Amino acid sequence: MNFHLDEILNRRGTDCSKWDTTPEGVLPMWVADMDFPCAPAIVEAMRRRLEHPVFGYTRISDADKQAVVDYYCRHHSVHVRPEDLLFTPGVVDSLLLAVHALTKPGDKVLIQSPVYGPFSGVIRRAGRQIVENPLVETPSGRCEMDLEDLDARLKECRLMLLCSPHNPCGRVWERQTLQAVLDLCKKHNVPLVADEIHCDFVFDGRRHVSALTLEGADTGVAVAVSATKTFNIAGLKHSTMLVPDEALRKALSDKADEIGMSGGNLLAVIATTAAYTEGDAWLEAVKSAVVANRDYAVEELRKAGVRIYPNEGTYLLWLDLRYLGLSSAELEARFVEQAKVRLNAGTDYGSRGDGFLRLNLAAPRALIEEGVQRMVRYLKTLS
Ligand SMILES: Cc1ncc(COP(=O)(O)O)c(C=O)c1O
Repeated sequence: MNFHLDEILNRRGTDCSKWDTTPEGVLPMWVADMDFPCAPAIVEAMRRRLEHPVFGYTRISDADKQAVVDYYCRHHSVHVRPEDLLFTPGVVDSLLLAVHALTKPGDKVLIQSPVYGPFSGVIRRAGRQIVENPLVETPSGRCEMDLEDLDARLKECRLMLLCSPHNPCGRVWERQTLQAVLDLCKKHNVPLVADEIHCDFVFDGRRHVSALTLEGADTGVAVAVSATKTFNIAGLKHSTMLVPDEALRKALSDKADEIGMSGGNLLAVIATTAAYTEGDAWLEAVKSAVVANRDYAVEELRKAGVRIYPNEGTYLLWLDLRYLGLSSAELEARFVEQAKVRLNAGTDYGSRGDGFLRLNLAAPRALIEEGVQRMVRYLKTLS
């Protein structure tokens, strides 16, 4: 089936964050959504529902819950029951909920930096303290966890937020590493909340290892996922937490009730169920397009002198431009003004991202080629 992944859609004028906040003439390659049309089954399911003109309060049906359960079982060997699910408006909201539910003001929460900006944002906004267990770079330019440091730092923490696969480094954590993380969390009696929103973008024969498939994961583990990232429906706002541990689930669900947080946007639930039940072929096609884009971008940018972390998962490329001696803010501004491409500044992921930029690969090939060539031409002017 042709999913029209080569078609260039004009997104300007749709109030999309990516294009409509980017100056005319500049190619946006930043925020993590895709310039691909979503799966036809999703549009069709929403269209069918729109034919009924009442959009009143809506429940999440048993079939909708089962669609989530079946999808994570089929794709990631995660075995949860419909009653293990909690729904929130987004994965960031799930992280925020976890911080509020599982810690008290002033408590320390562990993150592994550099990491998706809202990890530190939700902790700070909740009045908790951030403890960083920085990722370390191997000589081959791959990032690894520093488990010894993690052991030392978890002692003082009440919660760990894990990003798996990792945004922005594109790292897919191996089972052994993840098991070590969970073992350390258990040793220090710290619940583990894993943001696995990028789990469906894992490449080159690798498999995503969900924290829920680790030994001992029946207690103290919650996983936040969403169809919104995988199926390009982020504007619909809906996500799921998978929480088999009853006590943990109750703590999260009580806090959600207390602060009035709930998922279940009518069209988002319909879209999610369509995605999870009918979206596999579209997802495979998108993954192939992303991998081809990645291979092209890596080859061209490496030739131009850029160091690139190996992309094992996510449709994001973490570009190390420290050799240019510019801050991320300067890099971001110069790329916009001179190269005419907009990327995320590395410092969006914390101060350890300084000197980096993050590139989004989920776009039709022609846009990726245009953007990469603009970057290559600009980089040549600097050498
Ligand atoms: C690691 C990670 N978590 C969460 C989100 C956002 O999730 P949501 O839109 O469901 O809040 C993103 C979006 O890029 C992300 O990369």
